[in-house]
Amino acid sequence: MRKKFIAGNWKMFNEPTAASEFIKSYRKLIESDQTVMASIKEGKIEAAVFPPFVSISAAVQAKDNAPITIGAQNVHWEDFGAYTGEISAPMLKEIGATHAIIGHSERRHIFKEDNEMLNKRVKAALAKGITPIFCVGEVLADRENGKTFDVIKEQLTEGIKGVRSGDAAKIIMAYEPVWAIGTGKTASAEDAQEVCGYIRNELAKMFDEPTAQIVLILYGGSVKPSNARSILEQADIDGVLVGGASLQPDTFFDITKAGI
Ligand code: PGA
Repeated sequence: MRKKFIAGNWKMFNEPTAASEFIKSYRKLIESDQTVMASIKEGKIEAAVFPPFVSISAAVQAKDNAPITIGAQNVHWEDFGAYTGEISAPMLKEIGATHAIIGHSERRHIFKEDNEMLNKRVKAALAKGITPIFCVGEVLADRENGKTFDVIKEQLTEGIKGVRSGDAAKIIMAYEPVWAIGTGKTASAEDAQEVCGYIRNELAKMFDEPTAQIVLILYGGSVKPSNARSILEQADIDGVLVGGASLQPDTFFDITKAGI
């Protein structure tokens, strides 16, 4: 039984004070709901937020011992060095981040991060004990030209090539169709399932079936309380990566509950 992983990608929102306030409110919401707390304790769901780098410490402090996972929105492959603007895995670990999003479409398209760079990030994160949330997704033109699966396959194989079998099960995958991010257009639950199922099959080919069955695969793109449940009900969708709707504690809490 794979758990449901409910992730909030805050992007460039929530400075440290706002991050702290968010976590305190969200924490109250989950701690006052016995069903949610029981599901978290039993390992059935996991709630995670990904603040901007500068707000990670504030979020970690505000959560105290509450069961909220805190991650980063990127991670570099070297521990230190002349890489202006980058943050490394040991730096993240020291301030309490355990996960990192890698290859988000905004990194791929706005900041031109390519498959080779992303592959280095994924392998380094795994080697240094940070769980990667590795994102793939097609743009609208790919989908309209019937190229969705080709694009996903290339991003997947290039992005995680060279990952050792034993490490592959630790990767969390996220399918985020670029045309559905921040647009209000969600992939239908069936379309999302089709691609997430495809990703699981490809993982079985690249590694093996037991590994593919362990990997958590998330869907992201205009997820909100009203569509989260139907998405989370799909056989190969183990969670959601939520942008806009993760910025309000009560809305993100409603999405968290949809994972139960
Ligand atoms: P959205 O963003 O929920 O605002 O569409 C999702 C994401 O980019 O992770």
